[in-house]
Amino acid sequence: MTTSRIPGFYDLTLDERRAALADASPLSPGELIRLTDPLALDVASHMVENAIGTFSLPLGIALNFTVNGRDVLVPMVIEEPSVIAGASFMAKLARTNGGFTATSTEPLMIGQLQVLDVEDVNTAAEQVLTRKAELLTYVDAAESSLKSRGGGARDLEVRWIAESPIGKFLVIHLIYDVRDAMGANAVNTACERLAPRIEEITGGRVHLKILSNLSDKRMAKATCVIPVKELAFVGQIANLSYTGEEVRDGIIAAYAFAAADPYRAATHNKGIMNGIDPVVIATGNDWRAIEAGAHAYAARSSKYTSLSIWSKDDDGNLVGELEMPLAVGIVGGATKVHPAAQAAIKLMDVKSAGELAEIIVSVGLAQNMAALRALATEGIQRGHMSLHARQVAIAAGASGELIERVASRMAEERIVRMDRAKEILKAMESGK
Ligand code: MEV
Repeated sequence: MTTSRIPGFYDLTLDERRAALADASPLSPGELIRLTDPLALDVASHMVENAIGTFSLPLGIALNFTVNGRDVLVPMVIEEPSVIAGASFMAKLARTNGGFTATSTEPLMIGQLQVLDVEDVNTAAEQVLTRKAELLTYVDAAESSLKSRGGGARDLEVRWIAESPIGKFLVIHLIYDVRDAMGANAVNTACERLAPRIEEITGGRVHLKILSNLSDKRMAKATCVIPVKELAFVGQIANLSYTGEEVRDGIIAAYAFAAADPYRAATHNKGIMNGIDPVVIATGNDWRAIEAGAHAYAARSSKYTSLSIWSKDDDGNLVGELEMPLAVGIVGGATKVHPAAQAAIKLMDVKSAGELAEIIVSVGLAQNMAALRALATEGIQRGHMSLHARQVAIAAGASGELIERVASRMAEERIVRMDRAKEILKAMESGK
């Protein structure tokens, strides 16, 4: 059985980390290798046009996550320091109280048909709705592997856009159950199949036929309750100590800023996406689709706001909640052809797309808490600086143990710059 607690993981060497992961996870040695193996060039060249190679990013494992009572090791692909550490640390605090509780809706995607030149809108809308059952059966009659897995057309909705740069038009939404796929291809195909029938019925002309990335019928939600005493800590700047109540109230005040101000909400939600995107990428899913859906959902009330909510319960504990659209799949697309993505899904031992979404939304909430806790107390630069210093040391030419030594010296001096890194490196290499 998986355990997501691997004490001291951070301090191990790369090989030791892989060995510890093999012990803690359900992956076989072969699958573990696939998790970090580069994508084969012949696979890459069939995935996109004009491929000339591949581009790699760090893959790390977020630890300590318990989601719905199950320990899960979370693969994250990301170039930004502090994110994996932040998520792991917050997951550790959350697990003192059972971890994250998460839910997801049925995997219902929305396909849109834009219908132009409709003369009598009311009659057209009425006709579409009257013949809904027949139209859904027609869409489903096409050969589709999704249908054999229990997916398919579920509903039709009619919308009327009264004002636009070209005037009025009708929009039909096809609600389509995509089961464990992300579903873009299935939805687009279904919309194209439906289009001629909609033209017959409405007398209009179907222009666009495409899924909506505002997949607000395919939602995931995570909550966590952090005991207030777990939030207390002694900081590294001047050994300042923070009580649990101070940290809790600081997080709630930081959330209030994002709830009220779109300038802050954009950055706050970026912090959430710092947790979401790396898992989406590690599992071969379309992170642009997830980003588009998240931000459109954050603006659903026509005022862009925070995706998460932070409050306290009657016992004074910190309560976090994150709900957002999460159209991710575990079959099809890059998830199917990328061996590392398959290994990532196996590592998390997820059996459905909904289960994957529940883990991802929990990581988003943990990451949001990490950013708010840092911002509300010591600021984020301290944590960022030491990791950033390592990147600068590497860029200045340091390798092996010199990376850590050059980085530590810059962090002590509080000067993290390429020219200084080169000077320190030169001095260290010449034994001064
Ligand atoms: C940096 O990548 C993310 C943060 O800016 C998020 C936030 O401000 O909440 C730290």
